[in-house]
Amino acid sequence: MYNEYDNENFFEQYAQMPRSKNGLASAGEWHQLKPLFPPLRGRKMLDLGCGYGWHCMYAAEQGASDILGIDLSKKMITEAKRRNTDKRIKYRVCGIEEYEYPENTWDCVVSNLALHYIENIERVFQNVHKTLIPGGTFLFNIEHPVFTSGVNQDWIYGEDGCPKYWPVDNYFIPGERETHFLGCDVKKQHHTLTQILMGLINNGFILEAVEEARPSEEMMGIPGMKDELRRPMMLLVKSVSVSQKPRKYDI
Ligand SMILES: C[S@@+](CC[C@H](N)C(=O)[O-])C[C@H]1O[C@@H](n2cnc3c(N)ncnc32)[C@H](O)[C@@H]1O
Repeated sequence: MYNEYDNENFFEQYAQMPRSKNGLASAGEWHQLKPLFPPLRGRKMLDLGCGYGWHCMYAAEQGASDILGIDLSKKMITEAKRRNTDKRIKYRVCGIEEYEYPENTWDCVVSNLALHYIENIERVFQNVHKTLIPGGTFLFNIEHPVFTSGVNQDWIYGEDGCPKYWPVDNYFIPGERETHFLGCDVKKQHHTLTQILMGLINNGFILEAVEEARPSEEMMGIPGMKDELRRPMMLLVKSVSVSQKPRKYDI
């Protein structure tokens, strides 16, 4: 399966990002994602699209007993094994679409910035519901539909070279978007807000928290950060698996 993270050039560019060099402390969303984690002591956590394994390591530090990080990219998994090892963490090269999702197994499933690479997100919700214990937490951060809907994922610039506005286009047409990220052509998948939130509700989850990532006060001094207040880039969702599937709504 196609994955830009195994492309040498893209992988090298990704390694230069502050979040790749410094981990979660340099991830703009971490101050909002961290408080949404459930207690992990003695719990089992699965990370979908774990990348370098930062969230797996965080779970180990919080006392989780078993942690599995899966990622489609061999290079990312190699890096995770090098940077974030602990005897309670296992890493596996495996697509989010291919993982077997054993029934009633995990207390918590986490996914940070990987689900916008997945075409059939509802299938993921069904699989995560199956693999979570009742009452288990599904916590994820996905690129925001306002961010993914348009073309190229970039600002429209004024003549002065400054960002003029963010284009939202074809919002109700989900699916593939060609983007330019870290100097490479990267394919992502656009999902509407309804598909994401109602997809959870219709597949046995209740929503506990919904947040849109915005930089913390301390980050405002970083060049370009003020523009992050002009449109949401990421959507954070904490949901809980309920054993009885609620009524299906048409979406
Ligand atoms: C932006 S990185 C985020 C990595 C990590 N979750 C983090 O927050 O540091 C996105 C990750 O998703 C992985 N990925 C993309 N498509 C995938 C798929 N279909 N199955 C599994 N992993 C995938 C990529 O290889 C990459 O490691």
